[in-house]
Amino acid sequence: MILGGTLEARLLAARLAARPDTAVTLSLAGRTRRPVRQPVPVISGGFGGAAGLEKHLRRTGTRLMIDATHPYAARMSANAAAAAAASGIGFFQLVRPAWQPVAGDRWQTAADGAAAAAALGAAPRRVFLTLGRQELAPFLAAPQHRYLIRSVDPVEPPLAVPEARYLLGRGPFDEAAERALLEGEGIEAIVAKNSGGTASYGKIAAARALAIPVILIDRPALPDAVRAASLEEAEAMAAHALASPPAAALSAPAAAKRGV
Ligand SMILES: NC(=O)c1ccc[n+]([C@@H]2O[C@H](COP(=O)([O-])OP(=O)(O)OC[C@H]3O[C@@H](n4cnc5c(N)ncnc54)[C@H](OP(=O)(O)O)[C@@H]3O)[C@@H](O)[C@H]2O)c1
Repeated sequence: MILGGTLEARLLAARLAARPDTAVTLSLAGRTRRPVRQPVPVISGGFGGAAGLEKHLRRTGTRLMIDATHPYAARMSANAAAAAAASGIGFFQLVRPAWQPVAGDRWQTAADGAAAAAALGAAPRRVFLTLGRQELAPFLAAPQHRYLIRSVDPVEPPLAVPEARYLLGRGPFDEAAERALLEGEGIEAIVAKNSGGTASYGKIAAARALAIPVILIDRPALPDAVRAASLEEAEAMAAHALASPPAAALSAPAAAKRGV
């Protein structure tokens, strides 16, 4: 089972599903209204914490679980590591490496949303918020800014600040379009997550080209676990794990068709 919600999870699912002897299921939180089409059967809606996930793994005879969730999905990653340890099944994480600053970047880091809101300063600025709709509340403490807020689904209710405008959008975002957006909106600062990968890097590259400061919220700590940093590495690790003798915890039917 692949815990998804990322481009990498979708691509990995397609690769592993191509193996003749492997049944792949992808799990989503069920947060977005129009989820992206997935190449394998999907379960959605969560498990009811680590214990619920452990029960699910045992009941389905899952042999291998891959946590390919977004680097900021801290609770799901913690539950996954705990459930894998408790059930004894094969487990590893696929985590995009964080972006690294290059010459010309004007980055500042912030521990969380509140720190990022404070880091914007007192003077009113035109701010591009790309954190997703569930992490906007800290910016209520900085109502002086003019916000442009991008999210996959509408922000409901809207953020209760005097000036906020909303954009709906799902990556990948290309640099040229991001640059036109930043210039067109007269953006003076961006607040973002260090998501890694290419899908949302366009704004980072555009900000660099336009010398716009970027406040990056720190990644949450992930539980210690075996980790792949690329699709290729994850595919090789999965193949290895599936070729290894199954853990004792597996139920008989699952031994026939190796479940991921
Ligand atoms: N956080 C981000 O910035 C971000 C950005 C893009 C995509 N995503 C994706 O959006 C989803 C939710 O992220 P989040 O940060 O809100 O998660 P989170 O705070 O770590 O997780 C909260 C709860 O949501 C459920 N959940 C999360 N991911 C799930 C998955 N892949 N399959 C089934 N249940 C899942 C779990 O519920 P139960 O306890 O009931 O099992 C989990 O305890 C994740 O799949 C993530 O990959 C997140």
